[in-house]
Parts: sequence; C-alpha cells; structure tokens
Amino acid sequence: QGEELSARQRAEDTAAIAEAAALLRAGGTVAFPTETVYGLGADARNTAAVEMVFAAKGRPSDNPLIVHVAGVAALDDLVSEVHETAAALMAAYWPGPLTLVLPARPGVLSPRVTAGLDTVGVRMPDHPVALALLKAAGCPVAAPSANRSGRPSPTLASHVQDDLAGYIGGVLDGGAAGVGLESTVVQVQPDGTVAVLRPGGITAEQLAAVAGVAAVDLSPAAALEFASPSSAGEALPGPAAGGAIAAEAGSPGAARAAGDGSPAPRAPGMKYTHYAPRGWLGVVRGASAQRVAEAAAERLQAAQQRGESTGLLLFEEHRGLYPAGTAACVVSLGSLGAPEEAARSLYAALRRFDDAGATYILAEACPVTGLGAAIMNRLMKAAGGSVIDAD
Ligand code: TXA
Ligand code: MG
Repeated sequence: QGEELSARQRAEDTAAIAEAAALLRAGGTVAFPTETVYGLGADARNTAAVEMVFAAKGRPSDNPLIVHVAGVAALDDLVSEVHETAAALMAAYWPGPLTLVLPARPGVLSPRVTAGLDTVGVRMPDHPVALALLKAAGCPVAAPSANRSGRPSPTLASHVQDDLAGYIGGVLDGGAAGVGLESTVVQVQPDGTVAVLRPGGITAEQLAAVAGVAAVDLSPAAALEFASPSSAGEALPGPAAGGAIAAEAGSPGAARAAGDGSPAPRAPGMKYTHYAPRGWLGVVRGASAQRVAEAAAERLQAAQQRGESTGLLLFEEHRGLYPAGTAACVVSLGSLGAPEEAARSLYAALRRFDDAGATYILAEACPVTGLGAAIMNRLMKAAGGSVIDAD
C-alpha cells in the first residue's frame, strides 16, 4: 500500500479521520475503534480492498465480513428487504453492538464481503470516531475485528499494531473499546423469529424486550457454544497450541454441515477456533466456586511440576479460594456481579497470558445469563471446547 497513515493517529484529530477516510476511498485499509472491538475497514464495494483485509488477517475466505454504516438510510442501497422485527431491533439498538443479517441487494457489495452468500451482516457502530469515519468515507465499510485470524480481538490500538503492523494502511487510536466483545449477530426469519447467530454486546434479554421472549432463538449460537471441536464441523482446526494461527486452516466449502448431523453453522465465523491465547486453555466449571478452585489449583500445581508456565483467569470474589502461588500469572476479570467489566477486559486478559509466556491456562466459567452468554461463548471458543468439570 502506497499511502501510509502514520501509526496510531490520535482519533480525536479530525485531520486524521479525513486522511483515513481518503485512504478507504482510495482502496486502502484502515483500522478504527468501535464500541465493541477495533475493526479493520475497507470499502465494501471494492474487491481488491476487501481482499487486502482477508490477506492482512489471514482470514478464511468463506467467512463473510460485517458491513458498517453511518445510519439506517444507508440500508436502502445495500439490502433488498427489512423485516419489521429487524427494523424494530435497529430502532432500539442502533447505533450499538447489534449486527443484522439481511438479504443483500445484488451487485452492490463485493462478493468477497458476503463470501458468496445472498445475505449481508450490517451494523451501525456506537462510537464517535467510527461514525465520523463512516460519514467522511461516504461508502459502506466492511470491517472484521482487526486481529490476526484466530487471535483475541483487539480492544486497544496497540493490539492492532501487535497483530497487523506492516500489513495495513494505519490505525486510528480511540483508546480502549467500551464493550470489549463483538456485536451480537442476528437474523430475523420470515416468521419473525430472531435467530442469534453469535451472542455479543446486545443480550438475549434485550432482544426479547423488543421481539418478545418466545421469538428469540438462541439455538444457532448455543449449538456451537459448547460443541466439542470434533462436533463443530469438519474444518475446525485442532488446538491452537504452539502459537498456530488456527483459523488459517479453514478451507473453502467449510460451511457445509458436519457429517455427524450437527447443524451447519449459520454465522460461518463461529465454527473456527478463535480468540485463542498461545498457550493451552481450559475452562473449569462446577457446582460451587470452592469446587472449581480446588480442581483448578490441583491441575495448575501439576502443570507447574511438569514445567509448564501457568496462568489463571478468575473472578475477583474467588481470589481467596486459591493458595498463594497457584499460578505464575493470575488475571482477574473483576467482580462476578459486573459482567460488563469482564467483557471489557477478557481479550486483553487473554493477550496478557501471551505476554507472560503462559503455556497452561485455566479459566473460571461464569453464569450464562445477560452478557455472561457472550463471555462464556468467547471463552469456550478460546479454549477450543476444552472443559474441566470440577464436580
Ligand atoms: O463487533 C463487531 O461485530 C466487530 C466490529 C469491528 O464491528 N466486527 C466483527 O467482525 O466481529 P468479524 O468479521 O470478526 O465477525 C463477523 C461475524 C462472523 O462470525 C461472520 O461469520 C458473521 O459475523 N457474519 C457476517 N456476515 C454474515 C452473513 N451474511 N450471514 C451469517 N453470518 C455472517
Ligand atoms: Mg473476529
């Protein structure tokens, strides 16, 4: 890429936003902050630009990108139909962490954005820098999370730099992302059912408040949430041990149904091992925090004895349940009573284990209500389905 934004432009700087918008219009790539995580943007109509996004991320080509818009009006050009329930969800939660999968208007977006599907995922982010950039660019902006495929999503501009420096046109630095986990991806069925393809910043409870409790179908996401790697689809790569970028192993055609009768993932991205730290990660769950702590401490001690560098991801309330020195690197997600704080800090926590060189990491499970559903979804995917039952 010829034009280079100087690294980590300060986002409040309107000149930096104008420069970034010009870069997008010229077919370049720019990472920018959103309220969920940082995205890597490109003009969604420009196939060459979109291909640079896939290349920079090392992303499998069968995984479609979310298109970001500055307002509902932009949908007229992009989609052919909006179900009334979809419209109601947008009215309630845009701008915000909600992506709607809608029927794409043919011939507008690069086919690389939709990965050949006849639908497109669209969202309006709730972040002043993202909105200013989208307005200035004046085009639909395809933007996956700005991480190398398989790595935890970036919640700071420095995470983007760590993963993608040299591969992208630049980064607008807007500080720490507020939500910390990606948007909720939904698809409204013709009968008004809201299929949750990926849990995220908008909770099932919030969807139900608009669409009705009976209309919210969590099964597409839940089918994958606790799926073991072998049941989640033939293309699911092995454990991310050894620093492999797991999702690079994805192959075209991987969206087919698994041979074992489990449903084909409807958000294609959900089938890949994602968000993974470099070390081995397991999620520990059980009937009581005491049981979980005992099971985790025992395994961490054994791991330490065989020479592993250990990590422990816990909730603040449980710190005292672990003997001193249980793990070399202990990271707290904050209080169990404040899941928004856990969401905000989860990806940075996973990256901290990498910085510490952790090779064996255990994470406490949390209840799957509210934002906890998205937190557990990401933890389970980071763990590649490895669960330790403490009971
Ligand atoms: O919060 C977010 O959504 C962030 C920020 C940057 O906006 N973006 C993000 O994009 O997480 P990405 O590409 O990492 O994840 C997009 C997810 C994938 O699971 C993908 O399979 C799904 O959305 N998706 C996109 N288009 C789809 C479509 N037409 N049908 C079904 N799933 C789709
Ligand atoms: Mg992503």
